[in-house]
Amino acid sequence: MSLTRTHSIGTAPGDGIGPEVMSSGLPVLDLVADRHGFTLDWTEYPWGCDYFVETGHMMSADGLERLRQHDALLLGAVGRPDVPDHESLWGLLVPIRKELGLCVNYRPCRLLDGLSGPLSHAGDVDLHFVRENAEGEYVDIGGRLYRGRDELAIQGAVFTRHGMTAVMEYAFELAEQLGTGVVGATKSNGLMHSMPFWDQVFKEVAEQHPSVSATLMHADALAAMLVLRPADFGVVVASNLLGDLLSEVGAAVTGGIGMGPSANLDPGDTSPSLFEPIHGSAPDIAGRDVANPVGLLWSSSLMLRQLGELVAAADLMTALDAAVRNPATRTADLGGPLGTRAAAEAIADALPPARPSGSAGLEKGAQP
Ligand code: NAI
Ligand code: MG
Repeated sequence: MSLTRTHSIGTAPGDGIGPEVMSSGLPVLDLVADRHGFTLDWTEYPWGCDYFVETGHMMSADGLERLRQHDALLLGAVGRPDVPDHESLWGLLVPIRKELGLCVNYRPCRLLDGLSGPLSHAGDVDLHFVRENAEGEYVDIGGRLYRGRDELAIQGAVFTRHGMTAVMEYAFELAEQLGTGVVGATKSNGLMHSMPFWDQVFKEVAEQHPSVSATLMHADALAAMLVLRPADFGVVVASNLLGDLLSEVGAAVTGGIGMGPSANLDPGDTSPSLFEPIHGSAPDIAGRDVANPVGLLWSSSLMLRQLGELVAAADLMTALDAAVRNPATRTADLGGPLGTRAAAEAIADALPPARPSGSAGLEKGAQP
């Protein structure tokens, strides 16, 4: 008797190009699953800005409870020009990240084979951003006083030893697997309370990982170095705001926002992790079947890896690499001729033939 492994996945296609990349990507994932003898059991949630305009909420009241029941979550993108971005972010993504304890945001930025990216000198770029995802500068503490001429705004920030240690442990363990160093992004010259504490915890965690070279760099200088010498860096660990900014530099250096993947992870493994492309809803190109599906599918490869489907995850990356390497199977943002659906189909066509499932030679958590 053969038992099929089933993974329950909650999806929220969201807004703009989100539904397009999601509907193009899911058949590819079903095919990967079929080739490797497991099933992806999809549950789609209609949440996002359209839902907000209809109901006044970004997700249903029991949304977090429903999400918790899945093995993993896959999100398209949220955002609509007539809905303020802080409503969409703080109504959906932020509560999911905070309430499910997804305190690590992992964003690999690799220059895929055959692409040169915007920098002629870039070389072999393989960056791994680990961003603190649930506290730091993105907290709802503060307010605005004295509306009008003498108005003032106060914005708090929260840095806990627990949160920083979790994200730094993840970064150093990843560096051990990848054989790279870790650079910690700081700004302890400007932020006089939070960042010296960040630096202290970085040094404490570094001491526990003596085989990994550990360096602190001010985030402004680091941003410049990521443009000037991106191939010199491996794992970069940063606070919520600094990681948001620096990882976008990494995405730009590796050739485009349409391809970057991300994983929102619970290092304790008690909540389902959330996977999403780094791009937004791209209202300027939505509804035209031109969006690049690579960001969604690369994120899905990270998801398969997290689910323990290591060979399937690696095969999906092999197919992505092959499709992007061929100029005839690229989307318009990479100068290619294909639309979203056709580009996803080309990735499906590039999948290696079925081979025995298992995880020989691959380690959970490492980069596919
Ligand atoms: P964006 O990522 O949506 O678009 C930036 C530029 O990149 C646009 O020119 C767009 O056409 C292009 N682009 C994005 N994804 C692409 C793809 N897959 N293929 C080809 N080109 C692509 O960022 P923007 O314009 O700042 O934000 C638009 C909306 O998305 C806003 O409402 C914003 O709040 C939201 N947003 C949502 C995110 C999420 O759901 N996690 C992340 C970032 C932005
Ligand atoms: Mg961002």
